[in-house]
Amino acid sequence: MNFQTILEDIVATLQPELGAAGTVASYIPALACVDPRQLGIALHTCRGEEAAAGDSATPFSIQSVSKLFTLTLAMQRVGDALWERIGREPSGNPFNSLVQLENEQGKPRNPFINAGAIAVADRLVTHAGSGEGAKADILALMTSLSGEPIGFDAEVAASEAATGYRNIALANFMKSFGKIDNDVAPVLDTYFNQCAVRMNCRQLARAAGFLCRDGAHPFGGRSDVTNERQTRRINALMLTCGTYDAAGDVAFNIGLPCKSGVGGGIVAVVPDQLTLAVWSPALDATGNSLLGMKALELFVAKTRLSVF
Ligand code: DON
Repeated sequence: MNFQTILEDIVATLQPELGAAGTVASYIPALACVDPRQLGIALHTCRGEEAAAGDSATPFSIQSVSKLFTLTLAMQRVGDALWERIGREPSGNPFNSLVQLENEQGKPRNPFINAGAIAVADRLVTHAGSGEGAKADILALMTSLSGEPIGFDAEVAASEAATGYRNIALANFMKSFGKIDNDVAPVLDTYFNQCAVRMNCRQLARAAGFLCRDGAHPFGGRSDVTNERQTRRINALMLTCGTYDAAGDVAFNIGLPCKSGVGGGIVAVVPDQLTLAVWSPALDATGNSLLGMKALELFVAKTRLSVF
């Protein structure tokens, strides 16, 4: 299959729709000024081949796509004890919802809703001994997986910290149930910074590469990122929970494990074959990239690659 031609075709097909529909996330002020007329796509195969088209080299705020990588770190460090604090069920609610937490005594439904990712950040802070240590661990993982230096966007992190009322509420609410061990401040600082990681589609497709190779590091010769069982579990969580209350539609229309972010990025996995990263900042009502999802639908239609 000529992936380069396929990706170029997808970008050309969607070009006329750029800026026509959807809205850029505005509840984080630093994201509100991103130009919606951008679309990038990149893929990385399990044999190490790469292809990319459109704005694939433009860095963006990966937002909740980071939850995939912090979950990976927590699985590496905490093992199965992680699941004492975090569930594995789709929430059927928006990513920043507070309602379920009350009924479920502060145990988040899954690691990809905001509450779950904050609980994961708490585990990382405990393991690293401080928020600074947890943030350094996150950047070290992202840099190792993408093979290029990766950093936080300080402006986006500060913008989230200044306006993250719901996340601050979620963290305090979980703390009140005894489900957060550390002070809320370093946990939230870790969470806001992980969301503010800046990467482009090429780097993201490569960084997620371990998910299509049973956990093997995208650059051969290094120790595995996750074992086979952990890798299968991350992919399962992406399929069932990675796009929040759109997960059913995504499985129906695309049929790939995906993780989205309100920066407009989406990572998708074709197990044993390849990983894809798409980015277009305008979002649909569920907080997922509108054209990003269309790009994935086109990719699946053209290649017939799907887990089903
Ligand atoms: O905490 C937030 O609301 C954002 N930093 C991340 C949310 C997000 O990306 C949800 N994904 N679609």
